[in-house]
Amino acid sequence: MEKIIDENKQGESLALEQKEDNKRKLFIESYGCAMNFSDSEIVASIMVNQGYNTTQNLEEADLVLVNTCSIRDKAEQTVRKRLEKYNAVKRDHNPKMKVGVLGCMAERLKTKFLEEEKIVDLVVGPDAYKDLPNLLAEVDEGRDAINVILSKDETYGDISPVRLNTNGVTAFVSITRGCDNMCTFCVVPFTRGRERSRDPQSIIEEVNNLWSKGYKDITLLGQNVDSYLWYGGGLKKGFEQASDMQKATSVNFSKLLEICAKTQPKMRVRFSTSNPQDLTMDVVETMAKYQNICSHIHLPVQSGSNRILKAMNRLHTREEYKALIDKIRKSIPNCAISQDMIVGFPTETEVDFQDTVSLMEYVKYNFGYMYKYSERPGTMAGRNMIDDVSEATKKRRLQDIVDLQRVHSEIKTKEWLNKTVEVLIEKQSKKSEKQWSGRTSQSIVCVFPKAHYKVGDFVNVKIRDCTSATLIGEAIELSMNN
Ligand code: SAH
Ligand code: F3S
Repeated sequence: MEKIIDENKQGESLALEQKEDNKRKLFIESYGCAMNFSDSEIVASIMVNQGYNTTQNLEEADLVLVNTCSIRDKAEQTVRKRLEKYNAVKRDHNPKMKVGVLGCMAERLKTKFLEEEKIVDLVVGPDAYKDLPNLLAEVDEGRDAINVILSKDETYGDISPVRLNTNGVTAFVSITRGCDNMCTFCVVPFTRGRERSRDPQSIIEEVNNLWSKGYKDITLLGQNVDSYLWYGGGLKKGFEQASDMQKATSVNFSKLLEICAKTQPKMRVRFSTSNPQDLTMDVVETMAKYQNICSHIHLPVQSGSNRILKAMNRLHTREEYKALIDKIRKSIPNCAISQDMIVGFPTETEVDFQDTVSLMEYVKYNFGYMYKYSERPGTMAGRNMIDDVSEATKKRRLQDIVDLQRVHSEIKTKEWLNKTVEVLIEKQSKKSEKQWSGRTSQSIVCVFPKAHYKVGDFVNVKIRDCTSATLIGEAIELSMNN
């Protein structure tokens, strides 16, 4: 059955290529979070409808779109470097090339971008992608174009994304946009605007569509997925004024998760990201109830110090967080939990930092993403606090927790030794062309010899060895889930 689908796909793309030789070529690349990568697929869909074809080759691109990240200063510097590269390619090889900046930097810097970076012709914020055709018409007439208006209801729910650089197995499905949490260090509420939820019907249609194309693992995406709430559209804050009927038929995150799991019972369902203050036990119970909802929660805490949590406007304490972890583990004993941490937030003392270390010791996360605090202009911390922890201290603290996390990750991967786990094959291992690479339900990467298996198979793998990040095993058989 799958073979036939593959052959059809090939035929389709050959036919498309022949027709599309004379189409304009779009080079699109993304930096930053999963949401940016998902947004680029929406942008690609809009541009394909405008008669563009995507290309991987900068030198032949008519239009370059770069989807940018503002979360830390370093992320912005990376994008600035890319702009220099586009500049060189335009000068030396491709004078017709136009360049557009999308995403969070576009929103943060607005017209400043056009002034500071001569290479940029087009600046488009995260809620204005549907305006791209009009903006490009301006650019075609030789004018710079910009739209950075944020929206209270745009969710792009009506746009069917064009999957970019896909392995054909895993995909992102965005469910909310924006964030209302206002963590004091974070630029996202300013660059992505108010939080709004996408119509569940359009989410399910996208999930069904992905399944019919052979995808087997989806990640529901939002800055704060647990505050998903659909009652007919608009901001979550308007819910208090909703009619009784709207309230009765509303869909929250645990309901949405259940609908997705039930609609495609063989599709793996993941989600990201959960803010501890909004994760409810309903969600955890729904995860426990459906075997196709993966046993992994990305649960960023940022700091283990109550004083720092408060200064960050994270609305929970260290004790509440620990209690939440205990409840999750009681309900789903093998649930993987991962973290984001920030070291060197303004005023962070050695005692505060040791609170972060001891919280990590308590939880023993499976893996995590750790950062040095980077002051962002316009945020509450940026405006009201002095970035007073020295770079050397930030660096040392970061190294300490990165090392600690490695120890914990290794303890966690070792727990799987000699056990059999179900792995969905996603791609060839980076280290060996003789091995497949996939993930377990807990999001732990697993590699094993290819044998007769193929990408997209669910395989039972016996774990023989591990590193701190990877399980190493041997495939026994196809799992029941195929
Ligand atoms: N809720 C979001 C969080 C976005 S930012 C999500 O879906 O992932 C991702 C991580 O970047 C945060 O959890 C935080 O650890 C880190 N981060 C955000 N702002 C930062 C800053 N100003 N300096 C350093 N790290 C930051
Ligand atoms: Fe940023 Fe906090 Fe929202 S980290 S994305 S303001 S939950």
